Amino acid sequence: MARRKIIAGNWKMNMTPSQAVALIETLKPLVKKDDVDVVFCVPAIDIIPAIEAAKDTNIQIGAENMYFEEKGAYTGEISPEMLVDAGVKYVIIGHSERREYFAETDETVNKKVLKAFEHDLTPIICCGETLTQREQGVTIDFIRQQIKIAFLNVTAQQAADAVIAYEPIWAIGTGKVATTEQAQEVCKAIRDCIAEIYDEATAAAIRIQYGGSVSASSAPELFAQADIDGGLVGGASLKKDFGQIVNYNK
Ligand code: 13P
Repeated sequence: MARRKIIAGNWKMNMTPSQAVALIETLKPLVKKDDVDVVFCVPAIDIIPAIEAAKDTNIQIGAENMYFEEKGAYTGEISPEMLVDAGVKYVIIGHSERREYFAETDETVNKKVLKAFEHDLTPIICCGETLTQREQGVTIDFIRQQIKIAFLNVTAQQAADAVIAYEPIWAIGTGKVATTEQAQEVCKAIRDCIAEIYDEATAAAIRIQYGGSVSASSAPELFAQADIDGGLVGGASLKKDFGQIVNYNK
């Protein structure tokens, strides 16, 4: 069975609540599409107004992060239950910016992934190499390590529902998109790794996105690759371009 594409925006630390509502109003008609999952991952404070603004549309609202504990003395954190109660279905886990600026590790990523599944949230699990790692030829080894730790103790059934976002760090926010071949090569290696950990059926079901300077012009070729099931889009998700990206095959 063909995998359904999933095209998600990652707003990062942009958009106040009122700006979020205005942006959704603008994008609503532009991202209408039946055969793609369209997700806007927004800052925590924007989640509730965004869900309200996206009501009766095909836009699903996701979170950019969550904590791996249920509740308690963790000042400033957001729990999975809070996300679920607000109506969130997807949560980005382990974005490279969280790893770089907020000391997230493969181990904390794994804890968050397990906790997300416990609450029926679909994690969008991020992985990606630095420029040095790519230049030193260790990209695939490094990504395999990230994936293997992220999926520790995750069942095959859960893994089949997960989303992985391959985002080479050197391509994020740089305007330097990976070539189609580079992106496809790593996304295929990720799928092979999932087949090794689980089985072919799980590997065939899991959805793998590419992220890193995706634009209206690069999306069609990227999303046409055999192992690329959509994208995680930063900068371009804040603009009308996101409508073109969602409609990449029109
Ligand atoms: P850009 O699309 O701005 O490069 O960001 C990619 C990203 O980090 C999405 O999570």
